[in-house]
Parts: sequence; structure tokens; C-alpha cells
Amino acid sequence: MKAYQEKKNRFVAIKLMIVTSSDVHEDQILEYQKRGLIESQYVLENYDQLYDKDNQFQFIISKFCEKGNLFDYFLQNKNSLTNDIILNFCTQIIQGVIAIHDKNIVHSDLKPQNILINEDYQIKICDLGLSQFLKEQKSETFSKGGSYCYRAPEQDKGVLIKQCDVFGIGCIMCFLSNIQITILIATDIKNEKFPPIENSTFPELTSLAYQMMKKEPKKRINLNDCLEKLKQIQNNMTKNSTKHELTQESEVKCESQFKDGKSDVKRSQLIQIKNFVKSRRRRYLKQTVKQEVYL
Ligand SMILES: Nc1ncnc2c1ncn2[C@@H]1O[C@H](COP(=O)(O)OP(=O)(O)O)[C@@H](O)[C@H]1O
Ligand SMILES: [Mg+2]
Repeated sequence: MKAYQEKKNRFVAIKLMIVTSSDVHEDQILEYQKRGLIESQYVLENYDQLYDKDNQFQFIISKFCEKGNLFDYFLQNKNSLTNDIILNFCTQIIQGVIAIHDKNIVHSDLKPQNILINEDYQIKICDLGLSQFLKEQKSETFSKGGSYCYRAPEQDKGVLIKQCDVFGIGCIMCFLSNIQITILIATDIKNEKFPPIENSTFPELTSLAYQMMKKEPKKRINLNDCLEKLKQIQNNMTKNSTKHELTQESEVKCESQFKDGKSDVKRSQLIQIKNFVKSRRRRYLKQTVKQEVYL
């Protein structure tokens, strides 16, 4: 629920939870406390919590994120979202999850619906309701929790470890490269049978996602290495687009010189140069398959 807080001149989100048993109540209070513990700009911050004892309602008041959740946002804007923005979302999600893990908490329900976006395109991880503290940094056995599609194979067996969240982020990255979750399930991803990478609109990201979704938790790439890989993808994209801009620039320059009659480049030489530029462009196009934004 969205509400306006007049005193502070800001919009807030109010999450209402109906308390049905003392156990649940404890969990819900924990959600509030857990969120408060994590110091990261990428985790939704709480402003307050209120408890209505008579009706057993628990309210959590937090920052309102204008752009809603990543699931709806991506589906509504996927044609205009650049790979740069998508990479930036992934980097923020990973940084947020690293901060959660630093407090020895496993989110355990990472999915696009639990990632919010505010007006500055900053992401906020929300819904720590199912998250769990790990004792002594070891694995814990809990009730399954989470959403089946995004749940790591070991989590299906009730085992909760930090690598479960790595699997969840991998699924989010697949979603952001247009690999539909229904297809993921149909192709049996929990046994490392992944949809062909050609189906992806962002193959470099999907291939990284698959490294995060290995069946064996220990084989999954760790989150810090993942951040490095994201940086590499970003650098390659920048390099390719700069080269492409340069070839375009030289083509325009040649053409304008020819038209002005200022150039001593003969017509045949110009054709040769244009063909060279075209062939180079085809190569870059190949390298940046489906990254329409750079074409
Ligand atoms: N702070 C917020 N700002 C904007 N939308 C929010 C906020 N909190 C929740 N929502 C919306 O409500 C949905 C459900 O919130 P969530 O905390 O995940 O509750 P649930 O436990 O029901 O899954 C989110 O996917 C998002 O669309
Ligand atoms: Mg949720």
C-alpha cells in the first residue's frame, strides 16, 4: 500500500501482515529486525513498524519504490531497457546480496518480484520474510521456503546455504536476458540442463547465469567473482561500441570530403574504404549479437 507521510513529505510503502500464530508473529518481527541490520543501499530500508494488538495486524513502513518490482518493470519496459541498465541492475542485486550474506543471513526467496526499483534506477531487495540467520556460517536445514522456480536444488531438500541465493540471482539474470522461467523449468535447470544460449537476448549474461546455477553448490561461481565478470562484460561492450563509433565516424568523414571535392581520395579508393568499413561493421555486429542498442 502506498501512503503519503505529510510530516516528512515523502511516500511510504506499508506492508500489512496478519498475525495468525505466535510463531508467525516472531518471524514477522524478525523480518523487520533483519532488514534493519543490513546496511546496504540495495536493501529496502524500514522506517518503522506498528503492531495492532487487537486485530493482530503487523505493519512495516518502508521507503516507497516508484518503479515497482523488477518482474513487472522488465516486462513492461524490455524493449527500451539497454544492456547497460540490465548489467547495472545485476551489479546492484549482487552487491545487496553480498551485504545480506555479510550479516550471515540467507535471503532464500530471491526473484524479480522481490527486487524493487526506485526513481533513480536504484534497486532495493525486499521481502526478507523467509530469510534465515545461519548459525556459525554453516548450512541449516529449514522448511523449503522460496519459490519453486527460483529455488536451488538443495533448497528443495530443505538445505539452506548462501549458495542458494547465488542460484536465485542466476535465475533473475536468465529472466533479464529473456530466458522465460517456464522454459527454465521445462528444460530441467535443476539438473544443469539449460535452454540454448541462442535463445537469450544477452548471451554473455546468460552464460554467467548458468555458472551460478550449477547443481553442486560448491561449483557455483562466487558473488565477488561474478561482479568481476559483470565488469568484464561491461568493458567489452564499451570497447565494441567505441570501435563501431570510430568506423562510422571515418566513413562519414570520407563521404563528406568526397562530396566537398576537397579530398584527393579517388572514387575507387572511397568505395574500397566503404567496403572495408562495411566488413568491419559486420564483424562487430556479429560480436554484439542481439545487443540492438549498440547497432
Ligand atoms: N516499498 C515498496 N515500494 C513499492 N512497491 C512495493 C514495496 N514493497 C512491496 N511492494 C510491492 O508489493 C509486492 C509484494 O511485496 P513483498 O514485500 O514481496 O510481499 P509478499 O510477502 O507478499 O511477497 C512487491 O512485489 C512490490 O510489487
Ligand atoms: Mg515477495
